Amino acid sequence: MPILLRPVLESDLPILYEQQLDPEATAMAAFPSRDKDAFMAHDSNILKTIVCDSHVAGHIGSWEMDGHREVGYWIGKEFWGKGIATQALTEFLEIVKTRPLFAHVAKHNVASKRVLEKNGFNVIGKDSYNNSAGMLVDEFVLKLE
Ligand SMILES: CC(C)(COP(=O)(O)OP(=O)(O)OC[C@H]1O[C@@H](n2cnc3c(N)ncnc32)[C@H](O)[C@@H]1OP(=O)(O)O)[C@@H](O)C(=O)NCCC(=O)NCCS
Repeated sequence: MPILLRPVLESDLPILYEQQLDPEATAMAAFPSRDKDAFMAHDSNILKTIVCDSHVAGHIGSWEMDGHREVGYWIGKEFWGKGIATQALTEFLEIVKTRPLFAHVAKHNVASKRVLEKNGFNVIGKDSYNNSAGMLVDEFVLKLE
C-alpha cells in the first residue's frame, strides 16, 4: 500500500498521541507513553506524518542524541504488518541524508529491527537504559553508513 510523508499538522497530533498510548505498542518499543504535553510539543528536529490511503498511519522522526543523529518511528496498530514502516523509513532516508544515522531498538522488537535492516542498517553494538518506568531495557544499536 503506497504511503506518503508530509509535515505534521496540528490536527494529526491527537491521532498520533492515541497511537503511542497503545499498550501493545509501548511494550514493543519498551518505553512508556510520553505525557500528552511532551508529545504535543513534538520536539524532534525533523518529524513527518505517515499517510496511507489518506489516513494518518503514524509518524517518523529524527533527532540529535549524544552528538549523532537518531531515527525512530511509530505506526498505529491497525496499520501494522502492511510494510508501512519499511516504506516510510525508505522515503525518510531521502529526506534525512545525514550519515551515519543511528537507531536504538529494544532487543525483543523483532519487527523494528527488521525494518531497519531492510533499509541497510546494521547492528553495531548493544546498549541498555533505565526507562522512565524504572525498567532496564536491553537494546541493539544499529547504524546506517
Ligand atoms: C515496529 C513497527 C514500526 C513495525 O511497523 P510495520 O509497518 O508493521 O512494519 P512492516 O510491515 O514494514 O514490517 C517490517 C518487517 O517486520 C516483520 N514483522 C512485522 N511485525 C512483526 C512481529 N510482530 N514480529 C516479527 N516480525 C514482524 C514483517 O514481517 C517485516 O519483515 P519481512 O519484510 O521480512 O516480512 C510497528 O509495529 C510499531 O510502530 N510498533 C510500536 C512502536 C515501535 O516499536 N517503534 C519502533 C521503536 S525502535
